[in-house]
Amino acid sequence: MRPYDIIKTKRDKGRNTREEIEFMIKGYLDNIIPDYQISAWLMAIFFNHLNEEESFNLTDVMLKSGDLIDLSQIKGKKIDKHSTGGVGDKTTLAIAPMVATLGIKVAKLSGRALGHTGGTIDKLEAIPGFRSSLSTQEFIKIANDVGVVVAGQTGNIAPADKKLYSLRDATATVEELSLIASSIMSKKLAVLSDGIVLDIKVGSGAFMKDIDKAKELGRIMLNISKKYNKKAVALITNMNQPLGNKIGNALEVLEAIETVKGNGPRDFSKLCLELSAYMVELSGIIPYKEAKEKLKKNIEDGSVKEKMKEWIKAQGGNELVVEEPYKYLEISENVVEFSSPQKGYITSINTEKVGSASMVLGAGREKKEDAIDTTVGIEILKKLGDRVEKGEPIAKLYVGSKSHVDNSLKFLKEAYKIEEQLPENLENKVIFDVLFN
Ligand code: URA
Repeated sequence: MRPYDIIKTKRDKGRNTREEIEFMIKGYLDNIIPDYQISAWLMAIFFNHLNEEESFNLTDVMLKSGDLIDLSQIKGKKIDKHSTGGVGDKTTLAIAPMVATLGIKVAKLSGRALGHTGGTIDKLEAIPGFRSSLSTQEFIKIANDVGVVVAGQTGNIAPADKKLYSLRDATATVEELSLIASSIMSKKLAVLSDGIVLDIKVGSGAFMKDIDKAKELGRIMLNISKKYNKKAVALITNMNQPLGNKIGNALEVLEAIETVKGNGPRDFSKLCLELSAYMVELSGIIPYKEAKEKLKKNIEDGSVKEKMKEWIKAQGGNELVVEEPYKYLEISENVVEFSSPQKGYITSINTEKVGSASMVLGAGREKKEDAIDTTVGIEILKKLGDRVEKGEPIAKLYVGSKSHVDNSLKFLKEAYKIEEQLPENLENKVIFDVLFN
């Protein structure tokens, strides 16, 4: 077998066999096949795509390049959730304790912030004392005792994807749907849960900008999970404005706490309820509609709040943060306002720029090695469709000693479009579609 022939097949719109895909991926991982040949292959895939079987084979080969996370010592149904990444997306913090109140186990591995999107682990570490680095024994014990555990990704999950993803990043081949689907699923399927809810974000703050493409991605991901007999649901959700009102680590913890107490913002609360209800449905224990009612009740009667406290305590955090978040969370007191340059209606928000505005304050990372400041971020005061007067605050910036405030304000100014008239077709839906496998 020669890389040349495999590249040529794909260049000429042919199909690569399982053996060929395995040969390319293993050869690349073992430093036998050079970057330039894999790059050429990736570009051929970018233009000519992988079909269902090829996508599955690529996923499977990448998945098997690393460790599998065995959850069999955790009793009961284990349901996972994955978001393709957005701005203000703190759903895991709220839905993990929600779902756990109904007896479903959430044992999750999560990542850190990079670029304009945040990371669950950084957010959790804004809670005083919270430990995201756990031994396998601790991870399993907390999952069994509390029903929720979230740890940082360690070990060797899909190393082939890691290497391939860096190369895609450098060769402008990230945006191919079959490659995205295989990349995400190779990591998610390595965690041996009973089901997974996929939150596919679409819009100006997501890497998918188009609903039809997001649906197509969802379908490819669902097909892959079906081949593994893993139950899955994909929600196509709106990222044309930040999710909720708070962006930045401690600020997002604050908003998640408000949400589990029933006082969260409308869009974020709705998304949490839907994602949680589908997670419960996938467990096969309680159907979707009933799950939704029970979840609402558990928020109202304080059970979710108590579960969140139990979880935080089990991972070494100060659970009092849930009772008195303003007292125990460290949020910068240095506030700068971003005010409207004109009167009118907010007709569009470039959400990626809002994410970047938060990143340059220090809430996120431009490069993997950058340090973050969990106390900084942005509170959004006006969202799509809202009316503003000239000089009225649109957002509050919580600023730290290393924040690039001018840069952040510049991003926000570029992000917000304000017009005299409100368009009739302004899209404010939280969920665009739900796909099943
Ligand atoms: N996230 C991933 O993990 N992989 C991709 O290819 C794109 C987004």
